[in-house]
Amino acid sequence: MQVQKGQTVRELAAVNPAARIFEKFGIDYCCGGEKSLAEACSSARVNVAEVKAALEEPTSEKKDRDWQKASLSELTSYIVTKHHGFTREAIKRLLPLTAKVVGVHGQNHPELTRVQGLIHGLADELVTHMMKEERMLFPYIEQLEEATKRGAQAPPPMFGTVQNPVRMMMMEHDSAGQALHRIREITDGYTPPSDACVSYQALYQAIQEFEVDLHQHIHLENNILFPRAIELESQAF
Ligand SMILES: [Fe+2]
Ligand SMILES: [Fe+2]
Repeated sequence: MQVQKGQTVRELAAVNPAARIFEKFGIDYCCGGEKSLAEACSSARVNVAEVKAALEEPTSEKKDRDWQKASLSELTSYIVTKHHGFTREAIKRLLPLTAKVVGVHGQNHPELTRVQGLIHGLADELVTHMMKEERMLFPYIEQLEEATKRGAQAPPPMFGTVQNPVRMMMMEHDSAGQALHRIREITDGYTPPSDACVSYQALYQAIQEFEVDLHQHIHLENNILFPRAIELESQAF
């Protein structure tokens, strides 16, 4: 694809396989989607020409689904099954693994206690966050889409406009992104120290996988689902 430096990261991330390329270069494509490619590259301290070349390179990679074209209910159901499911499973594994590693290495590596605190905070926040999406926001988006398809009156939202919960969800995404960013800094980019045991290494790898999945998850919500839901609502009322 042809890429302009002034295009937003959000716009580019919606096209395959840009999100994976952004992840590789450490470019924030989920919470920082509003930035232009040039600004995002400068924040990530990477060369914009190199990123542009990677984005423009033809790929034989299997394409992901085009979520701009799928229905919103397919997208919400994909997010819940794939990303909320992954997040819940990962939290179940991360909490005891962190406790184990802190128990063995906490004295020699006090930074691990900070990592543990951040993981606990992140886990609590995300569990509540996903519940709010699943119980309130996603069902509303699905009903709105269903009513629009049938040409019926859209259900009156209990939160005034969909923009209100969307704003709150995006703030919570920012907070989760910042917590992971701090963990990345504390762990020196998930680099285990030379005395790290297998569990220590597994912990860093698990947090990194958690981060990658969360970026993809937030990207689908911030950059695709939420703007499409706002647009649909604006046409319905
Ligand atoms: Fe979500
Ligand atoms: Fe979310």
